[in-house]
Amino acid sequence: MPACAFNCASRSSGRISVGGLKCPDELKADAYNAVSLMSFGDQVAGGDPGPESWRFIGPVPELTKTPCRVVHATLDRRICLFYINGCFFAMDARCAHSGGPLCEGDIEEVNGVLKVFCPWHDYDFSLHTGESQMGLKQPVFPVKVEDGSVYVKFNSPLSLTPLSAAAKE
Ligand code: FES
Repeated sequence: MPACAFNCASRSSGRISVGGLKCPDELKADAYNAVSLMSFGDQVAGGDPGPESWRFIGPVPELTKTPCRVVHATLDRRICLFYINGCFFAMDARCAHSGGPLCEGDIEEVNGVLKVFCPWHDYDFSLHTGESQMGLKQPVFPVKVEDGSVYVKFNSPLSLTPLSAAAKE
């Protein structure tokens, strides 16, 4: 399974590693992550979104072992589930610029905002809002932790393993 490449030392001096950043209370793993929900179908060509609901991803102890996991959706789509300094974030895995793999991007704090940097052309995207300084906006999805499990609000089934063809129907 692809992992995030945390390569903060290679960044310019204006960027700060996430290592010292504190997670705001409202974004901690035990609280609802009230990031803005965008319509997946509106953001990604070919989408046919169903009803949004909370989709079980997995138990917190498992999902806090690594800073980024690929979560599989229907129609060969994926999202990145980030776990940074005690916070969960969910973002479309395919870069809004040209489809780069954001789950393999660097994560850094820039002026108080956690961002992922696309490994292909280095566009930045806020983990909170999906907004980029380059004028693009990446779909992001609400995350909640409830009874020791992580859920992402999404309009199709989600899984840590690729969904079977039957599950996609
Ligand atoms: S594909 Fe992500 S910045 Fe170009």
